[in-house]
Amino acid sequence: MDSTKTTGTTGASPAAIQAHYDVGNEFYRLWLDETMTYSSALWRDENDTASLAEAQQRKLVWHLKHSGADRATSVLDIGCGWGAMLRAAVRTRADGAAPLARGVGLTLSEAQAALARSLTASDQTIPPESSLEFRLESWADHQPAKPYGAIISVGAFEHFTKPADDAPAKIAIYRAFFTKCRDMLAPGGRMSLQTIAYGDPEDAVPAGPLVEDIFPESELPRLPEIILAANGLFEIELYRNDRTDYGRTCEIWAANLKAQKARAIEMVGKEQTRRYERYLKFAAWGFFSHRLHLLRFRMKRR
Ligand SMILES: C[S@@+](CC[C@H](N)C(=O)[O-])C[C@H]1O[C@@H](n2cnc3c(N)ncnc32)[C@H](O)[C@@H]1O
Repeated sequence: MDSTKTTGTTGASPAAIQAHYDVGNEFYRLWLDETMTYSSALWRDENDTASLAEAQQRKLVWHLKHSGADRATSVLDIGCGWGAMLRAAVRTRADGAAPLARGVGLTLSEAQAALARSLTASDQTIPPESSLEFRLESWADHQPAKPYGAIISVGAFEHFTKPADDAPAKIAIYRAFFTKCRDMLAPGGRMSLQTIAYGDPEDAVPAGPLVEDIFPESELPRLPEIILAANGLFEIELYRNDRTDYGRTCEIWAANLKAQKARAIEMVGKEQTRRYERYLKFAAWGFFSHRLHLLRFRMKRR
């Protein structure tokens, strides 16, 4: 697949995505949990003592159940990262459900696609009847031969628009995304979506450090933009704001990175390490102070 291919109407280009995610798999391995999940975990409440890895596992299962991917025999994961969701989809089956026959993950990062394939190849729990494919491809370019039974997208929506897009432009792009997802889903199918969003307008975070520095060419959505964009295409059956889950996740990542700082500097240099430290600190503050929200949706195809 050609990684330089344009992404049509969408936000961050493959080059911008790779500037972030191709920093190196081993660098991310230093501070993410062992599932290599790079998005908010899910805790029951602030008294829940689950480890990051357990809370990440719970998040994966939440999306699998809410999208119906635990029953579907074909699943699309848009923004699949290192492939944890699809490997969990193979293992997490509802009572009486057939095995997952086909899982397709889309990413714009070559490093992620390569590691997702090798982690999957070495995963002994994946039976031969389950085929997992990781494609270097934007959602806008994906042309499945048949509709999927379920779609999941976690932590990718943040990359679909650019800082220069105004609200109508953002809504148009998000609508193109929801239209594409509706068309790629079998009738009655569901999509589970997770994204960071700006909080209330008066609490808005200036786009600066989070977006420009660490996520080039990316802009966050606001809740009303998502609702307007999905209107008539998907019924929003459930929505929750788990902002403190992401605050907690970022704090744990920051502590992990601090503990591995010398190794991180060896791998990616002082400046890059400092940028990630700054980003994780800033993001944790944003979530705990209401400026950033973490939205999770269950949506049913109309
Ligand atoms: C923060 S990572 C989340 C990865 C994974 N879902 C997780 O939770 O660990 C964002 C992912 O979105 C992907 N992505 C960004 N823009 C995309 C696009 N237009 N089409 C498909 N994937 C995209 C990135 O390549 C990356 O895999």
